[in-house]
Amino acid sequence: MLCVSAQAWWILPPPSAGEPRKLAPYVTSPISVVDKMLEAAGLRSGDTLYDLGCGDGRIVLAAAKGFGAKAVGIEISDALAKRARQQAENMGLQDQVKIITGDMMAVDVSPASVVSLYLMTEANDTLRPKLERELKPGSRVVSLEFKVRGWKPSRVAKVELHNHPYTIYVYDMPQR
Ligand SMILES: C[S@@+](CC[C@H](N)C(=O)[O-])C[C@H]1O[C@@H](n2cnc3c(N)ncnc32)[C@H](O)[C@@H]1O
Repeated sequence: MLCVSAQAWWILPPPSAGEPRKLAPYVTSPISVVDKMLEAAGLRSGDTLYDLGCGDGRIVLAAAKGFGAKAVGIEISDALAKRARQQAENMGLQDQVKIITGDMMAVDVSPASVVSLYLMTEANDTLRPKLERELKPGSRVVSLEFKVRGWKPSRVAKVELHNHPYTIYVYDMPQR
């Protein structure tokens, strides 16, 4: 009998030479958890949220529709980015939402006042120096399930859904 561990979906194939590195597989965050993430990050209408690895765009769409924020999603999968862009159009949010097809490591995130992550701990390790370099003091990083090692969260929130306790970490970028 084939036995697949609950963790198996986080195992990624090695990158091919010259290709951007896929930092996490596609797994969606539940919509009710997305709302809690955005609330925990204190998202407001004047904010600009960047979701790094936006998948089908659910976080950017919720940020724009539910909180009135501007939102940018960056997604390595062309098919997922197209789906997110189409959904933004269907919802009439095309002026508030921008979807970039590409590698999150290659996109300048300095315009963000809030960055959302649902990646993996090792991916957060890879991103950390970039976030420290590019984000303005006072901007927030909200990460679902996976800590940013070496940073102290300003807030930790727990959400229980279908007997799974989701953990949300919020970090405030300090003065340089
Ligand atoms: C766990 S999913 C999260 C999707 C979405 N943020 C959500 O919460 O529903 C991670 C996403 O990151 C994307 N991704 C992985 N590596 C990436 C990279 N280097 N640049 C941009 N996107 C990437 C994957 O294709 C996947 O859609």
